[in-house]
Amino acid sequence: TGGSCAAGGSIMARALLKIQRYFRRKPVRFFSFILLYLTAGSLVFLHSGFSGDSGQAGRDPLTLAENGPLSSESRGLGLIGRVFKDTRRAARFGPPWMKGNGQDGPAWVSAGSRSRGAKGKNTKETEDGRAKYIGCYVDDTQKRALRGVSFFDYKKMTVFRCQDNCAERGYMYAGLEFGAECYCGHKIQAANVSESECNMECKGEKSNLCGGANRLSIYRLELSQESARRYGSAIFKGCFRRPDNVTLALPVGAVIQNMSVDKCVDMCTEKEFSLAALAGDKCHCGFPTILFTLHEPEEEELCIHRCAGEDFESCGNDEYFVVYQTQVQDNRCMDRRFLPTRSKQLTALASFPGAGNTWARHLIELATGYYTGSYYFDGSLYNKGFKGERDHWRSGRTICIKTHESGRKEIESFDSSILIIRNPYKALMAEFNRKYGGHIGFASQAHWKGKEWPEFVKNYAPWWASHTLDWLKYGKNVHVVHFEDLKQDLFLKLKRMVLFLGLEVSEDRLLCVVGQKDGNFKRSGLRKLEYDPYTPEMRATIDGLIRTVDATLKQRKVTRVPEDYRPR
Ligand SMILES: *[C@@H]1O[C@H](CO)[C@@H](O)[C@H](O)[C@H]1NC(C)=O
Ligand SMILES: *[C@@H]1O[C@H](CO)[C@@H](O)[C@H](O)[C@H]1NC(C)=O
Ligand SMILES: *[C@@H]1O[C@H](CO)[C@@H](O)[C@H](O)[C@H]1NC(C)=O
Repeated sequence: TGGSCAAGGSIMARALLKIQRYFRRKPVRFFSFILLYLTAGSLVFLHSGFSGDSGQAGRDPLTLAENGPLSSESRGLGLIGRVFKDTRRAARFGPPWMKGNGQDGPAWVSAGSRSRGAKGKNTKETEDGRAKYIGCYVDDTQKRALRGVSFFDYKKMTVFRCQDNCAERGYMYAGLEFGAECYCGHKIQAANVSESECNMECKGEKSNLCGGANRLSIYRLELSQESARRYGSAIFKGCFRRPDNVTLALPVGAVIQNMSVDKCVDMCTEKEFSLAALAGDKCHCGFPTILFTLHEPEEEELCIHRCAGEDFESCGNDEYFVVYQTQVQDNRCMDRRFLPTRSKQLTALASFPGAGNTWARHLIELATGYYTGSYYFDGSLYNKGFKGERDHWRSGRTICIKTHESGRKEIESFDSSILIIRNPYKALMAEFNRKYGGHIGFASQAHWKGKEWPEFVKNYAPWWASHTLDWLKYGKNVHVVHFEDLKQDLFLKLKRMVLFLGLEVSEDRLLCVVGQKDGNFKRSGLRKLEYDPYTPEMRATIDGLIRTVDATLKQRKVTRVPEDYRPR
């Protein structure tokens, strides 16, 4: 079964898509795009569960409304969440005066391909019989038959949805297993077996078969023109000095005639590597490791060297490699499990709602290889791969426990905590969108312009501050992480979190996490608000609260609030 990783919220979706399309042919500029993207507050992480969402959104107005371009969580409340609602502890954080409201709400990105928007078309084509069933195949959890991205959905998997997701990412094959799991790949690395062994109904459509136990029903996808080009598309990572030992750092390489970015990316994708490094007429494939960390990008000019097969592309040279990230999933950080022995120490992953808690959970799960738990229960998160979600928060089987609580008693029940602090201006907007977004995932103009927004700010802004101050005051052994710093320097901040959790750091694993962070990023979730929703009075209040928090952080000798939102 696949794990799951997802995305943080953001603004500027459409603009970014456009920019990205524009820069596709000008890869050198792609770096600026990534920077812009990060500044916009959006990091996407996508593996299994969340890729599942993406295929549906945008298919037609109906499913779009259901899935929303934004929050898988808010949606889950309506759909899957319902199933568990009565039997499990409900979400119950909130300002002390509010009971039982909502869930965590970083804006999950769930729709849109990073390559382009013309997905509906693609979808249609698959539907019109562009995918051909080719047989029932053996699968093995240790050696997957299809090694691209994967996702699962125990409620709603359909053949079409799986095909759609794989096609969208440019894969050649889509395979369904166990009624609920979808695997994509560029080649099938297993033997076929008798049809009778693929005998499980799809969870989302009883009329179709979706493999069996360790059996895959595999389809070959006839890629449209659109997908074919997407297959060649990849994320520009930058210009990097050649590693000391190329064969060690990038184990597979070949000389390519009429070299182009697409040719090298295709080769590395075909060989299931997440990095394609171009060096003149040579193409090297590998993964980011301590031998090739991608931590120190060079001036892009150093890499400029016209590709033999593509006049407008730069193919690097012997000393400086142009590096792209392919769509191949880096599986080195995808495995997760529960703690082998129950921990007596309970570590909180505390944050104000809307401050990126779920994103942090993803990062921690990938970086440590252990599931995280939650003080609440959200069925949709469970179904998307947060297996620790169903544990009681005191089970001791999870590496840390998500919570938005801010009561002294709740805080004191943890032995240590990672406290995520996010710019309140951003967190409030994210939470407001989540709270009023309903199925579509965005608060409507009426909410922003009406009395809800000022009311919300009045209640929540002070809670942002008291939440933080309470954790600093009552929390034992608090490790402060600023959301903005985490985005800025994921590797280092994540490394510190892993150390704080008392685990050994595997740098290769961290590099895998960092690579996967934007490895599959998609259209960002938050619709850009056309105007500034904060009035001068609100700003005065919030700035005052930030100052108070900042002063306390300073006094506690921990990292102060980032400059970019520290009032001057
Ligand atoms: C595997 O596929 C081939 C070609 O489609 C078919 O002839 C053969 O019977 C299949 N093997 C099994 C065990 O069904
Ligand atoms: C690179 O590493 C390989 C494998 O360890 C080794 O055989 C080779 O000699 C090294 N090459 C250089 C140039 O150091
Ligand atoms: C490379 O380009 C030349 C000239 O356009 C063409 O004749 C040749 O077939 C190409 N070679 C490959 C391997 O694509």
